Amino acid sequence: MSNIVIISGSPTQPSRSFAIATYLEKLLTSKGQQIEVMNVRDLPPEDLVYANFKSKAINQALDKIEKAHAIIVISPIYKASYTGVLKTFFDLIPEKGLSEKIILPIASGGTVAHLLSLEYAFKPLFSILNCQEILTGVYLVDSQFTYKENEMTFHETEIQHRLHASIECLLTKLIDHETAQFIQG
Ligand SMILES: Cc1cc2nc3c(=O)[nH]c(=O)nc-3n(C[C@H](O)[C@H](O)[C@H](O)COP(=O)(O)O)c2cc1C
Repeated sequence: MSNIVIISGSPTQPSRSFAIATYLEKLLTSKGQQIEVMNVRDLPPEDLVYANFKSKAINQALDKIEKAHAIIVISPIYKASYTGVLKTFFDLIPEKGLSEKIILPIASGGTVAHLLSLEYAFKPLFSILNCQEILTGVYLVDSQFTYKENEMTFHETEIQHRLHASIECLLTKLIDHETAQFIQG
């Protein structure tokens, strides 16, 4: 079975990113997948800001990343990019720490104007860590959904379909990857 980690990169609580993370966790669990949700805001802020590589909590989180076959990274858009707190965590991932991992980026923003940040901000961050493949991401605009206690209501079915399609794509890639590894022995 594949091991999938979902990272939520919002510093706030409640959070749209965390609501999306919970929604996808439920969806993937219903498909028999093993999911770990990691909320970056739950990590010790001082360890993140001061890049404390010896932190127990950080190393436990990095261990989950190391064991993951796929990572879904969900972040709000802050100033046309991912959040600072998400970057502080990614700064602690070792060089080539995403090798052989499939990444699905998901962003939520107040405006569609920053849709391309998935291309110019998110993707380079994962590439530099040598990830195997970055899937086409999903960008949600705040007006497309509401959430309450991590329950999501979609106001446009298209965006819900896009989220579900991205998950199907991820699962197909994981099967392809496992098959390729089996053939290679
Ligand atoms: C400090 C800050 C900066 C933001 N900058 C942008 C931005 O540049 N572009 C955008 O589309 N939305 C921006 N937003 C809106 C958030 O990305 C959006 O509301 C997001 O869905 C919030 O997700 P969260 O609840 O998980 O934090 C910003 C919000 C905050 C608080």
